Amino acid sequence: MGTVSSSDALDGAVVRMTGVDVVRGENFLLRGVDWRVEADERWVLLGPNGAGKTTLLQLAGALLHPTRGEVWLLGETLGAVDVFELRPRIGLTSAALAQRIAPSERTGDVVVSAGYAVVGRWRERYDVHDLTRAGMLMEQWGVAQFAHRAFGTLSEGERKRAQIARALMPDPELLLLDEPGAGLDLGGREDLVSRLSDLARYAYAPAQVLVTHHVEEVPPGYTHALLLRRGEIVASGAVDDVLTAGNLSDTFGLPLELTRTDGRFTARSAR
Ligand SMILES: Nc1ncnc2c1ncn2[C@@H]1O[C@H](COP(=O)(O)OP(=O)(O)O)[C@@H](O)[C@H]1O
Ligand SMILES: [Mg+2]
Repeated sequence: MGTVSSSDALDGAVVRMTGVDVVRGENFLLRGVDWRVEADERWVLLGPNGAGKTTLLQLAGALLHPTRGEVWLLGETLGAVDVFELRPRIGLTSAALAQRIAPSERTGDVVVSAGYAVVGRWRERYDVHDLTRAGMLMEQWGVAQFAHRAFGTLSEGERKRAQIARALMPDPELLLLDEPGAGLDLGGREDLVSRLSDLARYAYAPAQVLVTHHVEEVPPGYTHALLLRRGEIVASGAVDDVLTAGNLSDTFGLPLELTRTDGRFTARSAR
């Protein structure tokens, strides 16, 4: 691996990884990952179960350090920066985080409390700006009508959208979404894809990285794709170049046909 001067780290990339391995025992969870995300890019991260998608997202979320290689996030070198300063600048949703939200928590509190980087309401009063922003985000993500309802009473799709509103609350520079489409019915998925597509096209939105197993969940407007298989990158770059039947077949280990209609993808077995 070549040497990289510290000035390279300040070149504006939101995420930059070079030669990254994550090793646990004998297993390479990630191997030789080079990746770069710019502020105006929206990435989809695709791969089968166990490919290392969540591990890669945890690196990008400053929740994990690489075994080898270098990770720069928002101009800071992971390992040389206090991760507690970095994390509020990064919005993250995942099933693991969702499990930490008490089902009895009011949905409005779940969203507004994110600004204080805590799960759950702990302040008696919030700043009026926070309340306004939370209201605006809940409106945008279609959960405003549930502000007073317990989080646990929401449908899976509504909870997913409330979590994204929460992740956006601190106005992050990077938004990481780990399988937000998991467990949604068709209506819930289509609603989510359409809202994510709107966010992707909003020029002032943060850089976005969306993890999924399903090409059907790639929101129109997403610009880049990274395909992972067994911890290694199969292909990465512009969506048009990377999302091909050949690359997807290599990634998922079976011959696939891929179609694209009006910016939406569909994959099925070619057998
Ligand atoms: N702490 C760990 N020790 C050993 N193996 C792990 C550890 N955490 C995750 N793995 C394994 O690493 C692989 C990649 O996991 P993960 O990043 O969660 O994949 P994905 O999100 O693509 O399904 C999986 O095979 C998983 O079992
Ligand atoms: Mg995962």
